[in-house]
Amino acid sequence: MTSYAIVFSSKTGNTRLLAETIRALLPEGSCAYFGPPCGAVEADAVFCGFWTDKGTCSGDVAAFLPTLGGKRVFLFGTAGFGGDPAYFEKILGTVREKLPETAKLCGSFACQGKMPEAVRKRYESMPDSPARQAMLENFDKALAHPDEADLEALREAVKPVLEA
Ligand SMILES: Cc1cc2nc3c(=O)[nH]c(=O)nc-3n(C[C@H](O)[C@H](O)[C@H](O)COP(=O)(O)O)c2cc1C
Repeated sequence: MTSYAIVFSSKTGNTRLLAETIRALLPEGSCAYFGPPCGAVEADAVFCGFWTDKGTCSGDVAAFLPTLGGKRVFLFGTAGFGGDPAYFEKILGTVREKLPETAKLCGSFACQGKMPEAVRKRYESMPDSPARQAMLENFDKALAHPDEADLEALREAVKPVLEA
């Protein structure tokens, strides 16, 4: 039986929700590891999840990705800014580059994730401008994410990995 590991970093729970959604799809007894990055994992396929920090994955995931040589890898992440698929693609592209050449990327997924209230407070304290307005609107839109449609899209993206 193929063995899987779900290795993820999540500060406020958004990426964890994606990780739990993937775990629910795995055949019983096939999940060898579920948790934060901590050294190399023993599994045939690794689902690796990250939250976006300054346009790329958080540092713990950046340090973990190079250990995935020879494995099948599915990348998933959440980011505070959404609405533009090109933005997610850009982040995923940056993260992908941290994988060793021998890793076999077999899918990726990203969606928007809500941000802490302190971020809105910071936006509110800025002088009014179209950029401030756009950030406030994005913040409010993010509050609903990841939503059920995001999770369904994730399930669809993961399916081919489990059927392979
Ligand atoms: C320190 C910090 C930096 C962040 N930088 C970005 C960023 O560059 N781009 C972005 O889209 N979101 C950024 N975010 C938002 C988070 O990536 C987003 O809320 C994510 O869903 C959090 O995932 P988690 O709940 O799994 O921790 C940042 C959040 C924090 C706390």
